[in-house]
Amino acid sequence: MHFDLTEDQQLIKQTARDFATRQIEPVAAELDKEARWPTEIVSQMAELGFLGMAFPPEHGGGGMDNVSYVLATEEVSRACASCGVIMSVNNSLFCDPLLKHGTEWQKKEILAPTARGEMLGAYGLTEPASGSDAHTMKTAAELQGDGSYLLNGSKNFITCGPEAEHTIIFAITARDGKRVRHTALLVRPDMEGFTLAPHDEKLGIRAAHSCTMYFDNVKVPKEYVLGADGKGFKIAMNTLDGGRIGIASQALGIARAALEKAIAYAKERQAFGGPIANLQAIQWMIADSDVELQAARLLTLRAAALKDKGARHSAESAMAKLYASEMCTRVTHRALQVHGGYGYTTEYGLERHYRDARITEIYEGTSEIMRIVIAKTALS
Ligand code: CAA
Repeated sequence: MHFDLTEDQQLIKQTARDFATRQIEPVAAELDKEARWPTEIVSQMAELGFLGMAFPPEHGGGGMDNVSYVLATEEVSRACASCGVIMSVNNSLFCDPLLKHGTEWQKKEILAPTARGEMLGAYGLTEPASGSDAHTMKTAAELQGDGSYLLNGSKNFITCGPEAEHTIIFAITARDGKRVRHTALLVRPDMEGFTLAPHDEKLGIRAAHSCTMYFDNVKVPKEYVLGADGKGFKIAMNTLDGGRIGIASQALGIARAALEKAIAYAKERQAFGGPIANLQAIQWMIADSDVELQAARLLTLRAAALKDKGARHSAESAMAKLYASEMCTRVTHRALQVHGGYGYTTEYGLERHYRDARITEIYEGTSEIMRIVIAKTALS
């Protein structure tokens, strides 16, 4: 078992840290306050190869591994959780299924420019009445004589949806008695009948715009079908195995930002005759947070290493996401407590981390769903 990063991984980590500290951190509070899509940062991430990290160069990717992806996503998310999820959606939820299931044409025309960050991708599974119970979606697509599909329905909370050139839409394409089959379709906003609602107003990750999408008889040409007909649900689930590594990494970054601020503040703030870092009550909060953060990082890196090996990692990704996201909520909560009243104001930026943390327990599978996935493997 090796815990050391390779030279390349260390270099990526350092590059991501320098970039995030210099270019993202100074604007992160403003992005959050204004709920402004970070156009300039998305371009810079594209230049660094961060929007398609673990994909082969011949498909527009950076040729890195998933461990590097975790390291970079943590650094970016430490500066700005919105930028972290934009990176994660493009890499994990869009480029990954395109690489695994895309046709040669899709890889050349859609994956390569998206992995290079010249265009963006999104992933549309959730619907207004179907979140955790994804199988019960209502969006449906009917096969036409020319091999195209006619798509009807809606999807909501689609992160990067307002900005994406393509969104993978999962739709019911066949009913066989009680059983339904789903197919994945690549949908573009310029397809007739596709409407985007204004972006959602949210508690956190306010700069990473998400929205509802409506499909009214959208004709999806057959070249835009992703993977085999009827295999959509498995593609959706398998994609989330990777996506959950990205969200776990985002949680690591948010928690680290909060913990670093708590440590700095504890050394500076005077009370009871010295810095509050001398008080055991504060030390315990710092110690618990440090242990939990490091444990979450190990779980996340393990899931990424398994993905790099090509091994099934459904349970390991779910464990990483479950633990990292709940850790993130606890760590940001404690960090705010260390700051007392100052943590509750916007002055130290703690409240942003506290708000951003919360979504990591919800999207790409709630903590409750993560426990179901983990238990299923444990009990099998
Ligand atoms: N990889 C490949 N196949 C898988 C799989 C995986 N990880 N997980 C399940 N499957 C397969 C199963 O083997 C099964 O195949 P068969 O029909 O051949 O037997 C099929 O998929 C159905 O599996 P289940 O019976 O386990 O399905 P289920 O209906 O009981 O649901 C669930 C399981 C785990 C609850 C699933 O619905 C789920 O993960 N729900 C959460 C959805 C979710 O995470 N949504 C997040 C939205 S995305 C998002 O948030 C993006 C964003 O904007 C940032």
